[in-house]
Amino acid sequence: MPSSLRLGLIGSRGQLGSDLLSRTPVGGSRKIEVVPLDRPDFDLTDPRAMDRIREARFDLVVNTSAYNAVDRAETELRECFEMNAFLPRALALACRDAKTALLHFSTDYVMSGGINEEEQIPYTEESCPRPLSVYGLSKATGERLVLAAWERATVVRTCGLYGGRGSGQKGGNFVTTMLGAARAGRPLRVIDDCHVGPTATWDLAEVLWTMILDPPAPGLYHLTNAGSVTWYDFARRIFELAGIEASLSPVSLKEYRPPAPRSPYSVLSNAKAHQAGLVLRGWEDALEDSLRREGVTGGGPSPG
Ligand SMILES: NC(=O)c1ccc[n+]([C@@H]2O[C@H](COP(=O)([O-])OP(=O)(O)OC[C@H]3O[C@@H](n4cnc5c(N)ncnc54)[C@H](OP(=O)(O)O)[C@@H]3O)[C@@H](O)[C@H]2O)c1
Repeated sequence: MPSSLRLGLIGSRGQLGSDLLSRTPVGGSRKIEVVPLDRPDFDLTDPRAMDRIREARFDLVVNTSAYNAVDRAETELRECFEMNAFLPRALALACRDAKTALLHFSTDYVMSGGINEEEQIPYTEESCPRPLSVYGLSKATGERLVLAAWERATVVRTCGLYGGRGSGQKGGNFVTTMLGAARAGRPLRVIDDCHVGPTATWDLAEVLWTMILDPPAPGLYHLTNAGSVTWYDFARRIFELAGIEASLSPVSLKEYRPPAPRSPYSVLSNAKAHQAGLVLRGWEDALEDSLRREGVTGGGPSPG
């Protein structure tokens, strides 16, 4: 194993990127240098970005950037495919030229829920993607293009990310949106027939560092907090833990009709990651810890 690791982190101020950066291991036997690659200095849409990647000769590039505005994507196909499919392919080719490994991210939105809706069996990496939305299709295309372009690329599919920073493009995340609306006294209608595996970026970042320092074979991996829940039950648990009386009512996917279609079931199996020693705890423990760390619940931030 090399004694040092130089890593280029695209999107270090994003939700996942900021937790990856803050959880950089220190004091180990290996010297780790993380080089943040952020706009405006580093913009993936600028052709010079690929030259920077070729010249920098990183050991690994981690790309957390994406077009994440799921509903807007239905009318912004070009921008969405550019960020989620075509530029990730160009990035993978630049990494190949520089012999730099690549870690890229995808989503449960590549699944339709159609096949597993009845059986509700978590999707494996072998399950055939069948995206329902433009965002899902762009990410599924990106996965394929990245993995085909460079044999040392790894794609991690995850789901329902929430972290302290929140996503700039989404204006937060599900947890911050729920808390903000409830505190403002707004009534909330939340979908109760969509099963997901919400994932704390804090937890994901820890396991990603294990993956980075002791990489399994390249390829596709699912990584989410363990278990599954509907968005409605997730909201209920947030309010229970936060001790907030919210005006919350369930609504079906059919009634709610978001601009971009959602899958009724998009739970991802973590079995392949488990076999590689990559294990995330259950979603409830992760949520409780996250709310404590953000100072939403008592006890103050937990260590570690
Ligand atoms: N959020 C979720 O619920 C979710 C679920 C499943 C999978 N994922 C995937 O997980 C990954 C991380 O998501 P996230 O929630 O952490 O995203 P995020 O918070 O929106 O962060 C994205 C980061 O990418 C940067 N970025 C955007 N366009 C860029 C460009 N042209 N050049 C360079 N940087 C650019 C953003 O910078 P600015 O600050 O300048 O905008 C931001 O730092 C993405 O691939 C996403 O599709 C997310």
